[in-house]
Amino acid sequence: MDSKNILITGGAGFIGSHVVRLFVNTYPEYRIFNLDALTYAGNLENLKDIQEKPNYTFVHGDITDIDFIKNLFCEHRFDGVIHLAAESHVDRSITDPLAFAKTNILGTMSLLNAFKELWQDNWEGKRFYHVSTDEVYGTLGETGLFTEETSYDPNSPYSASKASSDHFVRAYAETYGMPIVISNCSNNYGPNHFPEKLIPLFINNIINEKPLPVYGDGNYTRDWLYVIDHARAIDLVFHKGENRETYNIGGFNEWKNIDLVKLLCKLMDAKLGREEGASEKLITYVKDRPGHDLRYAIDASKINRELGWKPSVTFEEGLAKTIDWYFDNKEWLHNVTTGTYQEYYDKQYQNA
Ligand code: NAD
Ligand code: TYD
Repeated sequence: MDSKNILITGGAGFIGSHVVRLFVNTYPEYRIFNLDALTYAGNLENLKDIQEKPNYTFVHGDITDIDFIKNLFCEHRFDGVIHLAAESHVDRSITDPLAFAKTNILGTMSLLNAFKELWQDNWEGKRFYHVSTDEVYGTLGETGLFTEETSYDPNSPYSASKASSDHFVRAYAETYGMPIVISNCSNNYGPNHFPEKLIPLFINNIINEKPLPVYGDGNYTRDWLYVIDHARAIDLVFHKGENRETYNIGGFNEWKNIDLVKLLCKLMDAKLGREEGASEKLITYVKDRPGHDLRYAIDASKINRELGWKPSVTFEEGLAKTIDWYFDNKEWLHNVTTGTYQEYYDKQYQNA
């Protein structure tokens, strides 16, 4: 694909910032536009190292602003879109589901529509890539894996809004012939992860000797992937994936929450020079998340077989790099955990 103007949405967020960095550094011939509304989850500090690069432009804007998006597409005539902007936290979707419908469904439609209006007479060389989640498949029991053929069965307002946006992307391909590709990825972890999600929240709480709020009995399973390996997969799918195909991306790396938390405690004790077992004492079992999915696990054999992708780091390596990053970036952590973050934290964990 010889596209020149590439729009990445949500590029100031966790995964988006790694994708923007990879594209800006790997493809000097592309002009990369990062469109982000800078919600609580968006942070331009994530991109300090590339902000002056000549092939990078930041655009502050909201994907749900239909006229603004239409004008932006007319102005820059994006050949490719990599769409990551979203409301992304399940717990927030439980307290404010409408915000998720607005950004994740309406926002995706606004981008699809602007792309359609621009290119519907000639789709040659164009691509709309929608980045989605494995949570659209609902929950697994003790066994089995999500494949690309697994039926959608979302349980949370977050996963329902992502499932809906996936359906609209497919519908634009079927109805208008739009060249689209979708990937559904498992739980990411790594640098720049906002500390409302399990791993960075617990790293922050261990540093500050605060309780570690484990939902329910902790016997929920997630499949963890290092964020830079997700960004590498996105690069491959964008350039080499087949039109109208879906690719599942996962870490081949299932952990029960409680086992993961205990491993994290052990690594953090070593890093902080605390006696072994000190951080485990912070584990506090709290009220379960409503509609909590028991288990996610991805069969990533299609992307491995067809595009040659596999994770480049083991979980042990990835977790060690992640912990090191949070220690080396205390200012980043301080900046995102002050102000409105504290209000969210107090409300969400009032019983912890
Ligand atoms: P994030 O919450 O860290 O970042 C989302 C970004 O989108 C933020 O920069 C935010 O400012 C921006 N944004 C939100 N609403 C916007 C709007 N209306 N207009 C423009 N920008 C807006 O999310 P993330 O974890 O980086 O996830 C990125 C994408 O990957 C999401 O689509 C998510 O569903 C998907 N995904 C995430 C994971 C994961 O484990 N985090 C796994 C699989 C898929
Ligand atoms: P999270 O990081 O929110 O990702 P997701 O809900 O998208 O999988 O949560 C990962 C797992 O950790 C999930 O089973 C919920 C659990 N969890 C806790 O036990 N305590 C917490 O404080 C958080 C945020 C999550």
